Amino acid sequence: MAERTFSIIKPDATRRNLTGKVNAVIEDAGLRIVAQRRIQMTRAQAEKFYEIHKERPFFGELVDFMISAPVVVQVLEGDNAVARYRDVMGATNPANAADGTIRKLYAESVGENSVHGSDSADNAAIEIVQFFKPEEIVG
Ligand code: CMP
Repeated sequence: MAERTFSIIKPDATRRNLTGKVNAVIEDAGLRIVAQRRIQMTRAQAEKFYEIHKERPFFGELVDFMISAPVVVQVLEGDNAVARYRDVMGATNPANAADGTIRKLYAESVGENSVHGSDSADNAAIEIVQFFKPEEIVG
């Protein structure tokens, strides 16, 4: 069933000019980029986005990292897009990521891991509206 997920190409990847290479992996996996924008996230946006992690010891570091350079926010569409994108991203820690995944190819560490993808369809919907208006998503 066609589904949408939310993706962020993170600062470690935009800094190294990897946006196009990450997008190639996404498209080769059969996911369509139906919305995309490069932004400088504000601290307030990053804190809200990662609110569920606010008690974690790495929260401050995570927010500082996410606002350290521009990011590319995206909506991806395809069959089972949430699970498919999680497969394509690979494990959160690149040391555990499978060959051919974005994190195996490009991520530097568990914190600077190149991409974010929603962990469920419900969270995808919550995350998409934080960055896109419905009319900006053209499927
Ligand atoms: P993401 O999928 O964007 O959602 C939460 C993020 O927290 C996760 O990717 C990691 O980049 C980050 N994260 C998880 N564990 C750690 C950690 N031990 N130190 C720093 N960042 C972490």
